[in-house]
Amino acid sequence: MLILGIETSCDETAASIVENGNKILSHILLSQIDLHQKYGGVVPEIASRAHLNTIIPIVQEAIDSAQLRYQDLDAIAVVNGPGLVGSLLVGLTIGKSIGYTYQKPLMAVNHLHGHIYASFLENRDISFPLVALVVSGGHTDLFYMPAHGKYEWLGKTYDDAAGEAFDKVGKVLGLGYPAGPEIDKLAKQGNPEAIDFPRPYLEEYGADFSFSGLKTAVIYYLKKHPIESNSISLSDICASFQQAVIDVLVKKTMEVAIAKQVKGIIVSGGVAANSGLRTQMAHAANQNRMSLWVPSPKYCTDNAAMVAAAGYYQIQSGYPYAGLDLNAVANLPPA
Ligand code: KG4
Ligand code: ZN
Repeated sequence: MLILGIETSCDETAASIVENGNKILSHILLSQIDLHQKYGGVVPEIASRAHLNTIIPIVQEAIDSAQLRYQDLDAIAVVNGPGLVGSLLVGLTIGKSIGYTYQKPLMAVNHLHGHIYASFLENRDISFPLVALVVSGGHTDLFYMPAHGKYEWLGKTYDDAAGEAFDKVGKVLGLGYPAGPEIDKLAKQGNPEAIDFPRPYLEEYGADFSFSGLKTAVIYYLKKHPIESNSISLSDICASFQQAVIDVLVKKTMEVAIAKQVKGIIVSGGVAANSGLRTQMAHAANQNRMSLWVPSPKYCTDNAAMVAAAGYYQIQSGYPYAGLDLNAVANLPPA
């Protein structure tokens, strides 16, 4: 089954063709980072206009580099939320147009489910039930999945997503946008125990998260100890901040996995590209005799192959196809 995946929910214009949920025939992605960098974050209006300019050539390239024709497709999978509504509409409109023109069915994919299914692109041994952590610039969510396409939403963030905390802390440290990859790199040379930043465990809130207090703690720390004073190095601050985020993500994910008595965990989304999180989650899973599936870094961040994979498994699970009245939903619920 050949599926064209389309992703335009934020600042990546992406199209990909995936066969049977895991064989990637093409993977085309254009990042808009250059356009947003000077603003320190994604500007919605700039994002949707940029998607408009690039979506047709990107989809065409996905078809051409897979050496296929639109007629060869079996279905089109497109993200309809959550995300920036103007950006989502661009991908949705092109997906519907191709579907209508070539009489191909359309499958709506929740962006968060797309992130989870990125793990299926590279692993054939994933078994259910499992716990999935989606940790990105816009989301920090925990799910229990008893089977393909079935989600019990267990935890969310009350304020900033983990990736958002990375980006905001990076901004006050004078790093570029997005700051996650740079903090990851600097943290490798720093001491994670240099500064004891708070771990927002929110014991009474179970599997929910909160990262804005941690971000504020870093800002207060910097006011008291300016980097110029050289009392502590930039890499120590990065390592200590990153360790606080990792401790919370690992602890909450393992608690949920143990409570749900699962044998495996999926971690995905942009922050899953973080080298410290990958190592420490693997260690924790191993200690609890659980399998851990994390996509390669290039499939952790937004892409369209994950959308095609999610679409494939939704079709296999009997999800209904979408009609031409499918709309973009900025705050589409995670489950
Ligand atoms: O999944 P994604 O591409 O977009 C959303 O759906 O939000 O995630 C982007 C986020 C950004 O906040 C970025 O800083 C973060 O993922 N990120 C990282 C790393 N690579 C990307 N955070 C920490 N360490 C990384 N290596
Ligand atoms: Zn994403």
